[in-house]
This record gives sequence, C-alpha cells and structure tokens, in this order.
Amino acid sequence: MNQPLNQKKSLILGIETSCDECSASVMDAETFHVLSLATFSQIQIHRPYGGVVPEIASRNHLETINPMMEEARAQAGIQWSDISAVAVTNRPGLVGALLVGVSAAKAFSYARDLPLIPVHHLEGHALSPWLDQTDATRPGAKPGSYPMLIAIVSGGHTNLYVAKEPPENWPVDFLQSSCVGRSRDDAAGEAFDKTAKILGFPYPGGRWIDQTARGGNPKAFDLPRGLNQKDSTDFSFSGMKTATLNLVQKLQKAEELETRLSDVCASIQEAIVDALVTKIFRAVQMNGCKTLALVGGVSANSRLRARLDAEWKSAGLAHEPFFPKMKYCTDNAAMIAAAGAVRFKQGHFLRIPETLSLNAWANPNH
Ligand code: KG4
Ligand code: ZN
Repeated sequence: MNQPLNQKKSLILGIETSCDECSASVMDAETFHVLSLATFSQIQIHRPYGGVVPEIASRNHLETINPMMEEARAQAGIQWSDISAVAVTNRPGLVGALLVGVSAAKAFSYARDLPLIPVHHLEGHALSPWLDQTDATRPGAKPGSYPMLIAIVSGGHTNLYVAKEPPENWPVDFLQSSCVGRSRDDAAGEAFDKTAKILGFPYPGGRWIDQTARGGNPKAFDLPRGLNQKDSTDFSFSGMKTATLNLVQKLQKAEELETRLSDVCASIQEAIVDALVTKIFRAVQMNGCKTLALVGGVSANSRLRARLDAEWKSAGLAHEPFFPKMKYCTDNAAMIAAAGAVRFKQGHFLRIPETLSLNAWANPNH
C-alpha cells in the first residue's frame, strides 16, 4: 500500500472492457464530476448470436479501445499530461475482454509514469450513484444518508450492499463485508434476457419485455418467485426459464400465444420485479437503511421503478429511491474512475514496476 495522496486537483482516466462495452472516461477525483465518457457498445455485433460471444468481444475491444481513450481525452478538453492516475477494471468479467483494457491501462501508466489503480467491476457499479450528482435524473433525490442500500441489478449481477458510511471510508473488503443479498444463480437481467429469447425477442430482451408488458395483466399467469422464505434476501431466478418455456408451449398448443403475449410479458416482469422489490425492501428493513440507490441496466425497467416509487415510504425509507442517469447505470468507465478515485485516495494503487505485473481475473472473488 502506498501513502495516501493529497493533491488539489486530480483527473483520473477510467477504462472499462469487462464485457461488451468498451469505455473510457475522465473524471475529477475530488468532485466526482465526469468531464467525459466515451463508450462503444457491442450489442449490435453480438445480437445475431443471442448473447455475448467472448472471443468476438475481446477482438472488438482491441479495435475500439484507442479511439475511446482519445475520444474521452478530446471530450474532456484536456491534454494527456493532465491525467494524474489510471483506473481500470481488472476483475471480474470475460478474461480476454478484461485483458484488453488492462493492457491499455498498463501501457498508458508505464509510458507516463502514472499510478495504476485496479478496480473491481462491482465496486464501480456501487460508486455510480455518486457520479455527477448535479445532473441526476431527479435532482431532489441523492445519496447521502447512511446506512444506504445499494442494489446492483444488471445482466450479470443481482447484489445488495449496505454502505454504512461514505465511500471514502469503505474498507478494501467492502464487497464481501457489506453484501447482504445476491442471486444464487441467474441475475435478474439474465432472467429477462433468457425468457425474452424463448419468446423470440432480440438480445438483450429486457426492454422488449418491458415494452410488450404495457397493457398486459401482470396476474394472468403465476410464475415462480424463487427463495421466498420470510427471512431471505438472496435471489433465485433460474426457475423462470423452464416455467416460461412450459407456459409458452401450452399457449402455442392452444394457438393463444400471439393474443396473450402482453399478458405473458407482464407476468414474467411481475415475477422478476416482485422478487426484486420484496428482497430490496426486506434488506432495507433488516439493516435500518435510510436511502436506497438502484443501479445496473435493469434499473431502466418501468415496472420496477414504479413499484419502488410507490412503496418506499411504507418500507421505512427516509427519502425516495435514487436512480443515477442511465449512462451511469449500464457498464461505463466513469464509475470505474470513481471507484479508482476512492482507492487512489486511500493509497491503494500500483507504481512501476508493480504496474507491469497487473493481471485480469474472471473470478469475482479474486
Ligand atoms: O448493466 P447492464 O447494461 O450490463 C451488464 O449486465 O453489466 O445491464 C444489461 C441488462 C440486460 O439484461 C438488459 O436486458 C437489462 O439490463 N435491461 C432491462 C431493461 N433495459 C435493460 N431489463 C428490464 N427492463 C428494461 N427496461
Ligand atoms: Zn456491469
């Protein structure tokens, strides 16, 4: 561990390539103001395969990482010499994809003799509520009272964390010591995407289910709510695939699938949202949380937002839930710069020659 730094103004370059978004960002480490965010999404490239193809993802990152870094620099209106440190996601994710970002970050920090900060992707998501608070979607609501529940609900993760203090005081084992709930199998976004695939929607299918569910009856079909014991704050979504497949086959046989599609989508959505809302509010109550932030791609779901908006008071929250802007909810390098800033100020960064041995890890527990 290095000595904590205390510089007046420091700009951090964030780099994120853990899955199918190639992203670079410049952020002010003191204010968490995002000066720039350049992201290339590979969704269209993977769509024909119905999911992310790891080899294609890493090859595409190789082509887009330099242009994204240059775009982030230009958008921020700075010179490369203005950067004080580099933060990069090095775990967890697709290892070939991670290695592209890690190699770019190592080369950049070596060439300019800059500190290099390895970042856990989920710590990035957990920090996203603090980004650019002034341009949050609902300026009235912001993170700040503690304990605060942070729900990361994405295509790869469904995890609940309790932040007892502001990020600068988070211990290095924050992700282990403050996790109060997680999915034991599929993530919520995965449940949306896999059931959408069964229904023939393009990848990623969450937003198609959301759209098609409008006007449908959420109680039309009874789909499973996994792990619904009274005291559980863990999730299980793996039962959704078989239940949906059985329902679809039954409706196809009766030639009713087309006419009941919005009922099917509304019922799938309700089962996933119900499980999320129940466990999120249970975790709020069990941990005496005063605020709640919802991050990750699934936070775009209209039914999930409506339920959280309607029920936050009765769940005992002091403030309405906080939803960061969508560009900070989906995978992005600004949140990696934010997590990097926290660890940088605590002294957790690498310098030459340790920078050269930084590796990437697929495993979230590394
Ligand atoms: O956070 P994210 O962009 O990527 C990672 O997984 O890291 O999340 C993508 C997930 C996908 O599963 C996608 O289907 C889901 O977010 N999603 C939605 C909606 N918009 C995106 N799920 C439900 N309703 C939506 N409106
Ligand atoms: Zn993510």
